[in-house]
Formats: sequence, structure tokens, C-alpha cells
Amino acid sequence: MAAISFGSILLLLLSLSLAQLLRWNPMWFGRSAGELPSSSEFFVFHEHDTLDDALFQHVGQLGDEFDAYRNHCLRVLSFAVHHLGGLRNVTNRQVNLMALALAYHDIALWTDGKLDYLDPSAALLLRDLRKNDKSGSVQDLQDADFVTLREIVLQHHKLTTWTPPEGSQADELLVNAVRKGDWADATIGMIRFGLPAAYLEKAYTELPEGGFHRILARMGGRLSPDSITERLAVLNIFKL
Ligand SMILES: *[C@@H]1O[C@H](CO)[C@@H](O)[C@H](O)[C@H]1NC(C)=O
Repeated sequence: MAAISFGSILLLLLSLSLAQLLRWNPMWFGRSAGELPSSSEFFVFHEHDTLDDALFQHVGQLGDEFDAYRNHCLRVLSFAVHHLGGLRNVTNRQVNLMALALAYHDIALWTDGKLDYLDPSAALLLRDLRKNDKSGSVQDLQDADFVTLREIVLQHHKLTTWTPPEGSQADELLVNAVRKGDWADATIGMIRFGLPAAYLEKAYTELPEGGFHRILARMGGRLSPDSITERLAVLNIFKL
């Protein structure tokens, strides 16, 4: 079990309380959100086949929270593409890989009821891929893609840049783009790695928050109503 560091506790408290306080007003973070520059190429994904095919397999377990989670995934995908230089600077294959990993990145909260959800989420992704035997929308997955998919899920709460361990074939560009995108969305812009406030606002306007942060904040009480120590397992997901 990873050690719970003081830094990660602070970060969690900070992001949870600010996220709750400021969820109605993303513009309070940093620069004020004005008009989008007319030259802007920021693209908001309103749907994505790969993401949706994967998510629909678990629609029963996501229940009422399906839309809130899906919109979170779509916002993070939009931010990740922005961090890679925009739609014109990414391939379909890169977007597909990120979309597939995003469908699963938090999923074990619902499918396994686990607060320490990174490993079980990555495991479910790989299990579904084997089950579907490559019939999903990402064709011809290579060994390196499986490593990338797994690392996108496992590293998405890491605060600082992720560098692949010696010999890893994972695509660090994709891992870090999703990591930055998830921080921006999970903290509603408090930690957003240079993402312009207007982009954040546009994504939330087009893909409603739908109570996502309240759902996350209440997950501890929901999954471990009786045990504070079990609730603290959520801290294992944060890495500096
Ligand atoms: C475009 O993508 C390449 C890698 O695929 C990256 O090295 C480059 O920095 C990106 N450009 C921008 C403007 O982000």
C-alpha cells in the first residue's frame, strides 16, 4: 500500500473544499473567463464512439450517475486534446486511446465500490478489452497501447509530470495530457496547467457538471459508511 503523504492529504482537502465552494463559478480561478479568442481551436467533445461503447457496457452500475461521469470524461478528453496542441495536432488513434482509458479511469468507484480505485479501474479496462477481443472501436491495439492505456488510468492523479520507468513503452505524452486534463476537471480549474479559463467555462457550459463533484465528495460516506480508516483509502490514489 502506498504511503499516505502529508502533501496528498493537504491536496485532497484543498481541492475538495474549494471544488465544493466554487463549483458554480469556474471564473473565480485565475484569469477571468472572457470571450474565446476567435482564432481559438478549442474543441469540446460532445460524444465519442470509443468512450460511449466502453461506458455503455457499465451503464447499469453507473445508474443515475452515468451522465455526470460521461460528461466528466468528455471534458477531460477535450482538455487533454488541448494540451496536445489541439485537434489538428492529434491523430484519431491518440484520441481513441485517451477516450478508451477515460471511460475507465474512475470506473471502479461504481463497478467495484472501491475508494482505492485506480488499480481495479485499470484491471477492468484490460479485462473488457480481452473480453471484447478487439471488437471495440480501437483497432489493432499493440502491446505498447495496452501499457499506455493502463498508465493513463494509474497515473491520472499524479500531480507532477509522469516519466515512464526505464523500458516502459507507454506514450508519456498521452499519459500526461490526460493527467493534466483530469486535474483541471476534478478541481474545476483550481489546478489546470495553463488551460485558459474561457476553455474551462465553455466545456462546463456545453457538458453540464451534473453533480459530478458532489457525487465524488460523497463517495467516501457511501462506500464506507462505518469506517474512517476505509474512507482514508481514497488517499492512496494521489501521487506527487
Ligand atoms: C504537437 O504534437 C507533437 C507530438 O505529437 C508535440 O511534440 C508538439 O509539441 C505538439 N504541438 C503543440 C503546439 O503542442
